[in-house]
Amino acid sequence: MQTRTLGTTGPQTSAIGLGCMGMSALYGDPGDRAESIATIHAALEAGVTLLDTGDFYGMGHNELLINEALRSAPAARREQALTSVKFGAQRTVEGDFIGFDGRPAAVKSFAAYSLQRLGTDHIDIYRLARLDPNVPIEETVGAIAELVEAGHVRHIGLSEVGADTLRRAAAVAPISDLQIEYALVSRGIEEKILPTARELGIGITAYGVLSRGLLSGHFTRDRKLDAGDFRAASPRFQGENLHRNLDLTDALRKIAEQKGVTVAQTAIAWVLAQGEDIVPLVGARRRDRLAEALGALDVTLTADDLAAIERAVPADAVAGDRYPEQQMALLDSER
Ligand SMILES: NC(=O)c1ccc[n+]([C@@H]2O[C@H](COP(=O)([O-])OP(=O)(O)OC[C@H]3O[C@@H](n4cnc5c(N)ncnc54)[C@H](OP(=O)(O)O)[C@@H]3O)[C@@H](O)[C@H]2O)c1
Repeated sequence: MQTRTLGTTGPQTSAIGLGCMGMSALYGDPGDRAESIATIHAALEAGVTLLDTGDFYGMGHNELLINEALRSAPAARREQALTSVKFGAQRTVEGDFIGFDGRPAAVKSFAAYSLQRLGTDHIDIYRLARLDPNVPIEETVGAIAELVEAGHVRHIGLSEVGADTLRRAAAVAPISDLQIEYALVSRGIEEKILPTARELGIGITAYGVLSRGLLSGHFTRDRKLDAGDFRAASPRFQGENLHRNLDLTDALRKIAEQKGVTVAQTAIAWVLAQGEDIVPLVGARRRDRLAEALGALDVTLTADDLAAIERAVPADAVAGDRYPEQQMALLDSER
C-alpha cells in the first residue's frame, strides 16, 4: 500500500483512507452489517490504515461498527489501524441535526464516550465536525490538546474550516490535517484554504471525492433516493442539476474508457494527483466498491490526462452547491 504523511506533525497513513459514514447513516439504507464489517476487514487487509468516522454517524452506530470490525480483525491489522473521529454535531433521536458543541467540557465528555464505543485506549485524530459559532476555535483545540497530553488522543484535526480558523488553530497546537470536501467538482479549497494549509504544514483528508456518488459512474438518472438520504436534499442531485452533473460524469467516462479504468478510479486518481499532502477518503461500504476505489492507486495520470480531465469537467461546471442552503451556512470554509 502506498503511504502519505498528514502534514508536518501528523501520522503516516495509507494513501487512501476508508470513510465509514455510509455504513451507518446519511446515504439511505446503511446496508448490510456483515458486508460493512467485511469491507473494513478487506480495507485493513489491503493495507488501508486510516478509518474515518464521527460519533454522530448513526449516533454511535458507526463507532460500534468499527469496534466490532477491529476486534475481529487479525491483531497485526488492528494495531496498524488509525481512527479519525469527528465530534460536536448534536442530533435528535429522529436524526435531525440541532447544533454543534465545541465547548472544552463537551469535547472531553464526547471523547470519553467515543473511546468506550470504539473500545480503544486512544483516538488517533480527533476533530470538531463544524466550527461552533459560540466557542472560539482556540478553546476547542486547547481542550483536544489536553486530551493529547493525557494520552487519550494522538493528533488534532479540523473539519470544514476556512484559512483564518486554520491559522488560529495552528497557533494553539500542532494540527495534523484538515478534513474538507475536495473533488473535480468541488474545487473551493484551491484558492485560499489549500495554500494556507500547505504554508502551515497541515495535511488534507479529502472527502466527497466522488461528490457523494455523482462522479462514481454508478449513479443513474432515475435512481430513487430515500427521504433519509442526504442526497435527497442535496442541490446537486435535484432535477436539471442532476442531469447537468451526470453529463459531466459522462464526459469523464470517455477519458476513463480510453485509459481502461473506471470513472470512480479516474475521479479518485485526480484527487491523489493534486499533491502528496492529500489523502482521499473513499466512502465504499461494499467490498466491490472498495476494490474499485483502491484501484485508483494504480492509475497514473499524465499531464495530458489531467488537462483532458479538466476540459471534460471544468472547475466551475458543476450545477448546485455542495450542501443545502442551511448547511452551507454552517461551513466556516465557505465564508
Ligand atoms: N468532514 C466532513 O464534513 C465529512 C462530510 C462527509 C463525509 N465525510 C467523510 O468522508 C467519507 C467519504 O465521503 P463521502 O461518502 O461523502 O463521499 P464519496 O466517496 O464522494 O461518495 C460515496 C458514495 O459514492 C458511491 N460510490 C460508488 N462507487 C464507489 C466506489 N467505487 N468507492 C466508493 N464509493 C463509491 C457510494 O455508493 P453506494 O451507494 O454504492 O454505497 C457512496 O454513496 C465519509 O464516509 C466520511 O467518513 C466527512
